[in-house]
Amino acid sequence: MFQRVIIACCAVAASFLMFAGNAMAGDIAAGSQIFAQNCAACHINGGNILNGAKTLKKADLEKYDMYSTDKIITQVTKGKMTMPAFLGRLNETQIADVAAYVYDQADKW
Ligand code: HEC
Repeated sequence: MFQRVIIACCAVAASFLMFAGNAMAGDIAAGSQIFAQNCAACHINGGNILNGAKTLKKADLEKYDMYSTDKIITQVTKGKMTMPAFLGRLNETQIADVAAYVYDQADKW
């Protein structure tokens, strides 16, 4: 019984830490750094060196039904075709941050 209480407390503390600092909304400035280090190799200036049809520009994101932070998070987490999955390399907060940056940047590239 006592052990269960301890586990429950740890879970609450861990989830608080994970969501502290407005992580759910995604930090665009932090996302910009993550993008430069992990995505720019293929998506320099919002382009796509492997599949030129699927850039990160708003028009293409809309065309392929990717213009939402949730969908970007899913793709970055799981990967797609020749784009690698990033879960393991990036944590969930970092993925939310980079998705917020890509979404915000889509009409600015
Ligand atoms: C090794 C090259 C590579 C890297 C690194 C990479 N991507 Fe991609 N990305 C691709 C390819 C290829 C596609 C097109 C996938 C497909 O066929 O649907 C893509 C597609 C996307 C799309 C959808 C674009 C559209 O118009 O449908 C988003 C959003 C995206 N990538 C974000 C990212 C983010 C954010 C990162 C960094 C965390 C990243 N990518 C890293 C290769 C890459």
